[in-house]
Amino acid sequence: MVRTPDSNAEEKRAAGEAAAEMVRDGMVLGLGTGSTVAWTIKRIGEMVEEGGVGVLGVPTSYQAQELAIAAGIPLTTLDQDPVLDLAIDGADQISHDLMTIKGGGAAHAREKVVASSAQWFVIVADSSKYVDALTHPVPVEVLPFAAKLAASRIEEIGGSPSLRQAKMKDGPVITDNGNFVIDADFGTIEDPEVLSTQLSEIPGVVEHGIFDNVDQLVVVLDGEVKVFSRE
Ligand code: A5P
Repeated sequence: MVRTPDSNAEEKRAAGEAAAEMVRDGMVLGLGTGSTVAWTIKRIGEMVEEGGVGVLGVPTSYQAQELAIAAGIPLTTLDQDPVLDLAIDGADQISHDLMTIKGGGAAHAREKVVASSAQWFVIVADSSKYVDALTHPVPVEVLPFAAKLAASRIEEIGGSPSLRQAKMKDGPVITDNGNFVIDADFGTIEDPEVLSTQLSEIPGVVEHGIFDNVDQLVVVLDGEVKVFSRE
């Protein structure tokens, strides 16, 4: 799994902090996972501390939860607040029509639930993520019991599956939900909507990383923060 190089750190910070300006007093927020939205969470925490902005956050992962607590953002749950005003999250790749691949941090299942619970869903990204066509391997969270079946079904629909391995643990990555992640490489994805349906139909797939519900993208291009909205 290729993660964005540190050389994009400044772009990530600029995009992440810019998105925090969308937050208004009283909002219930979805808090995404990753190194870009971490800047958003930090900035929202500062806005809360400065006063005048009271928000509640629903974290998409243990990482987001830890960051939100450290930033002083009060937390809630989807059980208590099932409709979110705004969700902000990072991406692994996003195309010009805002089709998105997520899950490089193995958090895409909760991220999709949170994004789908929000009235407005915003992606924050550095320039390396913004592409003509999606080529990033699609993270697919699967029940461990179903991993072999899912891998063979991914091959049948033209993908090359790879069970994601942990870095500081022997064996596979275990998600926050206790499942495995298969990274499914399809090369250039000609039709993400079709692939999304195909992956969802595989037995044992909990959630895959293709997102079609992004409303707005905040991205740094040529050193400037740009905002693109769904047409
Ligand atoms: C988490 O599983 C992913 O969807 C992240 O949102 C994504 O990988 C974020 O990437 P950055 O760390 O580059 O922001």
